[in-house]
Amino acid sequence: MNDLMNILVTGGTGYIGSHMVRVLARKGIRPVVLDSLEHGHKASIPDQIPLVVGNVGDKETVLRILQEYTIDAVIHFAGYLLVEESVRDPIKYMVNNIIRPVSLLEAMEEAGVRYLIFSSTAAVYGFPEVVPIPEDHPKNPVSPYGVSKLSFEHLLSVYSRKKTIQSISLRYFNACGASLDGEYGEAHDPETHIIPLAIKTAMGHRKEFFLYGTDYETRDGTCERDYIHIEDLCSAHLVALDALANGHQTDVFNVATGRGITNKEVVEAIKNITQRDFPVIEKPRRPGDPNILVANPQKIMTTFGWKPQYSDIQTIVSSAWKWHTTHPHGYEHV
Ligand SMILES: NC(=O)c1ccc[n+]([C@@H]2O[C@H](COP(=O)([O-])OP(=O)(O)OC[C@H]3O[C@@H](n4cnc5c(N)ncnc54)[C@H](O)[C@@H]3O)[C@@H](O)[C@H]2O)c1
Repeated sequence: MNDLMNILVTGGTGYIGSHMVRVLARKGIRPVVLDSLEHGHKASIPDQIPLVVGNVGDKETVLRILQEYTIDAVIHFAGYLLVEESVRDPIKYMVNNIIRPVSLLEAMEEAGVRYLIFSSTAAVYGFPEVVPIPEDHPKNPVSPYGVSKLSFEHLLSVYSRKKTIQSISLRYFNACGASLDGEYGEAHDPETHIIPLAIKTAMGHRKEFFLYGTDYETRDGTCERDYIHIEDLCSAHLVALDALANGHQTDVFNVATGRGITNKEVVEAIKNITQRDFPVIEKPRRPGDPNILVANPQKIMTTFGWKPQYSDIQTIVSSAWKWHTTHPHGYEHV
């Protein structure tokens, strides 16, 4: 990648963004982070990376960053992502995931920044009619979170038609794992993801692990998901940036492995790899959980030659275990 040297990373102190920042820096690309720190952690990024504490909805701040750092492209991670919270408070999600980022797009237009990568999600599909799910599968999001992400994808297509911003929306399936050296990883509050929850139970930080739904139509009755290690997610962003720089027009890709792992299999793997047993309490299904969410990742593989390298369950769990056991309080005391 020759011409995209300065990248604005919104939400860059969050779980995935903070990893991306390091991956960019390793490549010799200069990231600048814009984060409200509402959910992110200052300590999750190295001191030498410029951090602007602010909101993507503040157009003046965004414009100043784009101009001051001569930004070539934006990776837009900033957003809210709790599905249940979005059901309780849909407007919060519409404002933060659709309306505020419009200011980001306006600032980009004004500054002449032409490329953006957007963190979209499997939640845009809703209950799958076909598995594995291809990108052209019907989009029927069941949560306001999914609606907000799909709406922003649509908004991006408007800017594409105006020929001001070309973008690639990456629909992540289940992001997971930690940096391979265990130095940084997932520190969401509240935590809702299965792997950190089970690991914290294995560590004795939680009394029991709740397994929701054991009567789904899957091989062992528990939900089946497609887990993608953050290292692989980040490499997908790199190939997407490269593609935009080389003239690829606005597009959408699943980022996933195409392999499903059930909740029971995840729990068993965590018990085996950590050599810790812990109580698992079976609970009824949660509303809105599809039985299987597994992607067809062929499009990104064939278009960009991307393929996951770290998304086997062994690497996912052992990296997460290393992170959680060496940082039992997340970034709090770092
Ligand atoms: N984690 C997953 O499994 C997953 C799956 C699919 C999609 N995604 C998407 O990827 C993105 C990153 O996810 P994550 O797990 O790193 O989340 P995260 O909460 O760890 O990081 C998001 C960051 O964005 C910041 N932020 C939120 N709203 C902001 C705003 N208006 N202005 C400035 N900063 C703001 C937060 O402070 C936080 O640091 C999100 O957009 C999410 O919807 C995540």
